Amino acid sequence: MKISVYFLPLEIKESELKGKVAIVIDVLRASTTLIVAISNGAKQIIPVSSIEKAYELKQVLAEIRPLLAGERNGKKLPNFDLGNSPFEYKPEIVSGKTIIYASTNGSPTITLVGKLADATYIAGFVNLPSVAKLIEELRKDVVIVCAGKANSFSLEDSICAGMLTNFIMVERKFEPVGDGANASLVIYERFKKDIAGALLNSAHGRYLCELGFEQDIRLAAEVGIYKVIPYLEGKWLVGKFYGYY
Ligand code: MLT
Repeated sequence: MKISVYFLPLEIKESELKGKVAIVIDVLRASTTLIVAISNGAKQIIPVSSIEKAYELKQVLAEIRPLLAGERNGKKLPNFDLGNSPFEYKPEIVSGKTIIYASTNGSPTITLVGKLADATYIAGFVNLPSVAKLIEELRKDVVIVCAGKANSFSLEDSICAGMLTNFIMVERKFEPVGDGANASLVIYERFKKDIAGALLNSAHGRYLCELGFEQDIRLAAEVGIYKVIPYLEGKWLVGKFYGYY
């Protein structure tokens, strides 16, 4: 089986995702927040590619009283119920709820990939061992797609992609193919001893620290503290629980 890595959603061609299992990574903070939300009992999350779509969908789904969640420039939006800090998605707030989720880079990447791939899963450091186990069991070629930041490279996503590639390659006999997968392995090697430090020093990490979200970054760097893997069922994200190996 093969594993490829794309550092930006822009790099992907339809033919590269057709028939494949896709793993979307947006460590700061969409992946981390979605994993926490599902783990804390959110029933389903609908990622949308724009704020306008989020408001429209809220009207369409008015009967089930969905929560509006997400951010622009890392900050909660007016009239939204939740921002994008994983700490906001407490069980008493999200349990049993439908959430409409509009983040800047994460949700457009998930919706794009979801249209093209056979199956779409969400990974971050916090659920990485479970995702590695799932990939091993699926025994299919895998494409990892990093959300990046405003169409540019993001260090945190590429380290996470490299760690996942490393986990799958070493024990599970997946073969990294292409420059993306090989480069992600080099990046992971460079930063693996201090994931939290790398995240705190990344461009988006520093920006989030300025906004007061240092604890979000420290949480996002914790490898394997959650066992849930959000995945797309049609246009909705729901969760699958996977044990560690
Ligand atoms: C995004 O999707 O762009 C991020 O999750 C932004 C953020 O850190 O809030």
